[in-house]
Amino acid sequence: MNILLLGPPGAGKGTQGERVAERLGVPKIATGDVLRAAVREGTSMGLAAKGFMDRGALVPDDVILGIVKEALATPEMSSGVVLDGVVRTVPQAQGLKRVFADLRRSLDCVLMFDIADDEVVRRLGGRTVCERCQTPYTGKAPGDPCPRPGCGGTLVRRKDDEPSAIRTRMQAYREQTEPVVAWYRADGTHFIRIDAVGAVDDVTRRVVEALDECGSEGERR
Ligand code: AP5
Repeated sequence: MNILLLGPPGAGKGTQGERVAERLGVPKIATGDVLRAAVREGTSMGLAAKGFMDRGALVPDDVILGIVKEALATPEMSSGVVLDGVVRTVPQAQGLKRVFADLRRSLDCVLMFDIADDEVVRRLGGRTVCERCQTPYTGKAPGDPCPRPGCGGTLVRRKDDEPSAIRTRMQAYREQTEPVVAWYRADGTHFIRIDAVGAVDDVTRRVVEALDECGSEGERR
């Protein structure tokens, strides 16, 4: 299955994406994680992306489509993939469709995580992430050790979780990403809204129901 996760910053795409990928037995690609790794490694892509990311702006479409094209062509992604935050503009949606078509594949489903702005601000304001394994946590302090067994990393605050960057990210979402919803609807892609508020396990249950709906729709096609 090829699944795209869409939704505002902090909606839980990363948290649920891990679980979806594990359930489907396919890899997950998160453009945010790929870009942060490039920044850490100091590659030319990382250096170019850093300024956009730190202030909460979107990285240019051609950079994102380059990442996606390269990733989807790898053998481990050939039987399915969970795409987390990979599409944030209409040109990216169009580009992803072309990349899939070249590989004779298509998206099975778009899962859209619905959440109110004040909950986004609350979640991102309380988030730390492990600098090593990138797992996000709530209720932990920067400098704490990563709770994940065997990781050994330290928790840090993301630069783009500062209040001014959060505001920019939410504005970018409204102006550049929300039009993607209408584009997928017009394109006829199976599109399912998920209520992203509630306990993590409850949201996962809704996601699993959506995946079942998506799978049975795929069999009917
Ligand atoms: P990215 O890293 O993808 O950031 P984002 O989309 O803003 O999403 P987040 O990672 O902040 O949130 P999430 O939805 O994954 O939520 P999470 O599970 O962590 O991208 C970063 C930057 O990279 C972008 O701003 C841009 O610059 C660039 N970029 C990336 N892709 C791009 C693209 N396609 N085009 C252009 N630029 C791109 O959860 C958030 C917090 O809430 C965590 O602390 C978590 O523990 C907690 N939480 C999760 N679920 C729940 C729940 N149910 N209840 C309570 N708390 C919860």
